[in-house]
Amino acid sequence: MKEPGYDAYIGWSKKYGPMYTFWLGETPVICLTDYNLINETFVKDGDAYVGRIKAPMFMKLIRSPYGVVWTEGSLWKEQRRFALQVLRNFGLGKNIMQERILVEVSSLIEQINNDINAGVLVHDILTPIGIGVGSLINNLVFGYRFEGKKLQEYHELKPLLGQFVRGFGSPWTLLIQKWYQYAKYIPFCRYYYYLMKDATDTLHEFYMRQINAHIEKFDPHDESEPTDYVEAFLKEKAKREAEGDTNNYFIIPQLLGMCYDFWLAGQETTTNTLAWGVLYLMIEPEVQARLQKEFDMVIGSDRLITVEDKHNLHYASAVVNLSIVPEKPPSLYRKAGASVSPHPYVCHIEKRYCNFRDIIS
Ligand code: HEM
Repeated sequence: MKEPGYDAYIGWSKKYGPMYTFWLGETPVICLTDYNLINETFVKDGDAYVGRIKAPMFMKLIRSPYGVVWTEGSLWKEQRRFALQVLRNFGLGKNIMQERILVEVSSLIEQINNDINAGVLVHDILTPIGIGVGSLINNLVFGYRFEGKKLQEYHELKPLLGQFVRGFGSPWTLLIQKWYQYAKYIPFCRYYYYLMKDATDTLHEFYMRQINAHIEKFDPHDESEPTDYVEAFLKEKAKREAEGDTNNYFIIPQLLGMCYDFWLAGQETTTNTLAWGVLYLMIEPEVQARLQKEFDMVIGSDRLITVEDKHNLHYASAVVNLSIVPEKPPSLYRKAGASVSPHPYVCHIEKRYCNFRDIIS
């Protein structure tokens, strides 16, 4: 049997067809690798696959079931719709979403240029990317970037996220999930329990501090557009209360759940994807040269790239599409009697649709 990885997933898909099962310990995972099948299953029959396989210890530590990642039913529907609407509004009109991304991009470029001018030869790319992504998420959720004195806050929180993800991904954590109440008293097992508990307790404190600061300065009569998620949520909560609508999930534990979701789902994923993108380009100088040629032709060198340029940057889009797709099936498994997971990587190299590998080579 092949080791899990690109070749194994492609090989299994060829051998067993567009739907096959592998076992993750005692859990069967059904893997879908065909675009049409993924679309039929997760888009057209989406309601049947909203729920996810939940890990009891993890749920307890993040004070769930709130947020959107680990919920389903009416809570998930209402809150996901609201979250998408808020994020969409941030991208409309003045487009504060893009503005804030470009601030982080400029800051990253400035820092690398400063390092080059100071004669630095070995560049740490992961830290500034992490600060940029962290600032962006924090700005969207709580309304400020990690700069000046606030940078220290990032350096305190970032290792906790890493600690949490390390704990979440460890086979030992999988083993103790169901009986964590006992495992936390057993040497060695307790290490993994407290690895995640210490991280979530500190993150919880940080989120609650931010939420309380927003509640203190919240003015229900202020009619200006909200500029961060917590403000938008409090506004909607106040509006519904004023209308006498009490049958909803605009409650503080739900807001706390969303803070966990944005931070945990957004930070490590985006930072690592961008850092891997840089690494791929470092070992592919020809791809770098073709990208540069396209940027020179379409953008020039006197402005930053914006999202409107995407339709004219075909080569760059193919490179981004290929480097952004997880090699393994996503581990936030959907449940439907068993764990079900789409496998976008195999789709992205499928010749019938569009082989991004061929485009960039
Ligand atoms: C390159 C970066 C990212 C990758 C690779 C990634 C990957 C994923 C994957 C695979 C899922 C599960 C999808 C599914 O089960 O259908 C997911 C869900 C989610 N992601 Fe991301 N993500 C990224 C960035 C972000 C960012 C920046 C945020 C927010 C700030 C975010 C927030 C979420 C949320 C809230 C969900 C759950 C949605 C729901 O269940 O309704 N992600 N992400």
